[in-house]
Amino acid sequence: MELNKDTDQFDIPLAKRTYLNNPYSTSLKKFLIFSPFLFLIFSFAALQFIRNVELIPLNNRKFQVERNHDARILGHLPYNETPKEKLVLIEPNIKVHMDMRDSLLEMREEAEKDGIYLVFLSGYRSINLQNDIFYSLKSIRNQEAAERARVSAPPGYSEHSTGFAIDIGDATQRETDFETDFENTDAFRWLIKNAAKFHFKLSFNKDNKYIDYEPWHWRYEGSIEALKVFESSNRKL
Ligand code: DAL
Ligand code: ZN
Repeated sequence: MELNKDTDQFDIPLAKRTYLNNPYSTSLKKFLIFSPFLFLIFSFAALQFIRNVELIPLNNRKFQVERNHDARILGHLPYNETPKEKLVLIEPNIKVHMDMRDSLLEMREEAEKDGIYLVFLSGYRSINLQNDIFYSLKSIRNQEAAERARVSAPPGYSEHSTGFAIDIGDATQRETDFETDFENTDAFRWLIKNAAKFHFKLSFNKDNKYIDYEPWHWRYEGSIEALKVFESSNRKL
């Protein structure tokens, strides 16, 4: 009892506790408690977003570009040979893909109505024939592969093997066949103005780095099969 009396006599200072009772302080407390979790959740979500939206497509695009660049040889993309059953004869010595036959013949008829006489010079070429053209002409002309590839695709790399390519001349100016000068003919001027109506497109224009300008060489893009064949080329890699 004595002891108790003694202790009662001392005024022991106690730490004052201040309780945050107003609503703002309560919210702040909750926020402070949950903030590490929120931080983790947002960080995780941000990482997922970056991975899915940014990094993966970028990587894919990089691989895609590398793959397509790898696929090219001397500036030419690879093309499969069209199966024989898809080829039709349009001239005694010229076959083309059956998808483009009607459009091609219609284009020639329409040109004729305008007084323009188109002549077909070369259509489908087998990979074997392309092989002969590329290697024999290369050696005759004493040219290296890169030089030869400026005017002729290596075997397995020619649009002609798809059956969707056609070389066109002007029947009234045969001296311009396969010559850059073909661009000065009425036939070429007519084609530039009208070929797209028949789904034809010039394949090798003046800005191609590896392949020479070929005003006579047109390709057909009027069917899904043809569009698939030329998809890489149209992506301008
Ligand atoms: N003359 C074009 C490039 C070819 O040979 O296919
Ligand atoms: Zn051609």
